[in-house]
Amino acid sequence: TNIILLGPPGAGKGTQARRLIEERGLVQLSTGDMLREARSSGTEMGERVAKVMDRGELVTDEIVIGLIREKLEQGGAGFIFDGFPRTLAQADALEDLMKDEGQSIDAVIEMRVDDAALVSRISGRFTCGNCGEVYHDVTKPTKVEGVCDVCGSTDLRRRADDNADSLKTRLMEYYKKTSPLIGYYHCKGNLHPVDGLAEIEEVAASVATVLNGHG
Ligand code: AP5
Ligand code: ZN
Repeated sequence: TNIILLGPPGAGKGTQARRLIEERGLVQLSTGDMLREARSSGTEMGERVAKVMDRGELVTDEIVIGLIREKLEQGGAGFIFDGFPRTLAQADALEDLMKDEGQSIDAVIEMRVDDAALVSRISGRFTCGNCGEVYHDVTKPTKVEGVCDVCGSTDLRRRADDNADSLKTRLMEYYKKTSPLIGYYHCKGNLHPVDGLAEIEEVAASVATVLNGHG
């Protein structure tokens, strides 16, 4: 199964992707994570995109399509596309890449959350720098303060683009450039809206219902 998690910043894409990795053995392809990795390893591309990301703008199609192409060419099946595609050009490119690999997208899960919830989710978010687990000050705190539940690391981080100004830009980018993909996938017949405002477990159950209909 290959699926796309589509939704605004803070909708819970990363949170649900981590569950799907565990429960279904799918491979997560998050362009946000790939770009952050490129930044922290100090590659030339990473340095080029750092400022764009911190402002909350989209990185060029060329760069993110290149990152995804590299991963897909390594082969395998059962991908969760998290935060990709984000523009119509990226959606077209993904379709071509999948065709080349003899594969297709089985389901596009649109995570619906309203803007007010996004602001409180983003402002309370922190992640484990070691294993990537996603937390929230209010809705998903660690059991022991300052220590990751999953791996015990104390390297808990907040993202540079999780501030009010960048979030405003990220939301604008989403509505302008990414939300047209809802119509795009609706026309292709594989769009499945899910209520992203529900609790994490409930959202996971809705996602499971969609995926169980797709083998
Ligand atoms: P990216 O890393 O993709 O960030 P994003 O889309 O803004 O998404 P987030 O990671 O912020 O949110 P999420 O939906 O994963 O939510 P999460 O599960 O963490 O992109 C970052 C930047 O990289 C972009 O701005 C751009 O510059 C660049 N980029 C990346 N991909 C690109 C592309 N394809 N093209 C161009 N540029 C690209 O949850 C959020 C919080 O809410 C957490 O604290 C979590 O614990 C909590 N939470 C989750 N679910 C629930 C729930 N159901 N109830 C209560 N709380 C919840
Ligand atoms: Zn951890």
